[in-house]
Amino acid sequence: MSNGAELRQNTGDSAIGTRVDLGDASLNEQLYAGMNRVELVLRDELNKGADFLTEKVMHLTKAGGKRFRPMFALLASNYGPNPMSDEVVKAAVIVEMTHLATLYHDDVMDEATQRRGVESANARWSNSVAILAGDILLAHASRIMSELGVATVAHFADTFGDLVTGQMRETIGAGDGDPIEHYMKVIEEKTGVLIASAGYLGAMHSGADEDTIQALSRTGAAIGMVFQIVDDIIDIFSDSDQSGKTPGTDLREGVFTLPVLYALAEDSAVGEQLRGLLTGPLHSDDEVAAALSLLAQSQGRARALADVHHYLAVVDENLATLPDNATTKALRMLAQYTVSRVG
Ligand code: IPE
Ligand code: IPE
Ligand code: MG
Ligand code: MG
Repeated sequence: MSNGAELRQNTGDSAIGTRVDLGDASLNEQLYAGMNRVELVLRDELNKGADFLTEKVMHLTKAGGKRFRPMFALLASNYGPNPMSDEVVKAAVIVEMTHLATLYHDDVMDEATQRRGVESANARWSNSVAILAGDILLAHASRIMSELGVATVAHFADTFGDLVTGQMRETIGAGDGDPIEHYMKVIEEKTGVLIASAGYLGAMHSGADEDTIQALSRTGAAIGMVFQIVDDIIDIFSDSDQSGKTPGTDLREGVFTLPVLYALAEDSAVGEQLRGLLTGPLHSDDEVAAALSLLAQSQGRARALADVHHYLAVVDENLATLPDNATTKALRMLAQYTVSRVG
């Protein structure tokens, strides 16, 4: 990557910790050490309990993932007097566990067959196993949370409530409402809120002041919007080698994400054909292929990318209120990196 930031998928057991280049050698080392601690606490905690449970929860943990949320929590802790304290590491672990729990549950809801480059838990075992694996992750997260105090528990209750509201809002659909507004609200809740929480909890447990905590929370919320829109673009326009997931999953489920909504609203022959094709979930591979080809000819991707750039500007505005140091530069780089996945 020319701008220096690189986020790789962790690839299996041997890759403990996530190494990234944030453009500053000592920050890179500090973050790498912190991410190692996160990984050790995460795996230590998830290995508690019966073997048949640990096997299921370690399935996606070991499969990798970018560990973006714990990384952001650790970076956010650099703004307080106690960066990367034990409490900060625990907060980072809670956020990753919560994220992971929602992935197990989300793959059941989306009937996904692939996750993090491996078979999803629902596909490998069953929906029941995947749901229960997600539940036990939430139990582990709650145990660690209780060690961090009531403020963290209360914050988490709001975060998780919003996240579930977003997943439910998406499931129910826009109804008669504006589909783009509905989409934005859904992703703010299902994705933005947890990344905001990573910033909030990381900063809070480092002893940062309230304004700083709020700035990191808002930064995370905007990064979350960028992140999810980019992910939705990838679902349509990339192959599974890049995403570790099956392309067109959202279309098969009849979940029309931002690029699709823009394409559907288009006053063109392509828009017309899409409106005829996308009347609900797509059942055959041929239908999915036809939809993907029409979407590629539409303005959907370009318009969704314009929104991505709007939220990147919000990230920058919030980062501009923080001290101009190596961590702030790194956060700017990380936000831009999420976009480089789609060019
Ligand atoms: C996937 O999140 C779900 C979304 C919010 C798009 P990530 O893309 O962070 O997934 P992992 O953790 O790297 O697997
Ligand atoms: C991501 O939902 C948000 C949560 C998991 C809460 P998606 O369904 O858009 O995510 P992917 O594409 O399966 O990772
Ligand atoms: Mg999904
Ligand atoms: Mg989903």
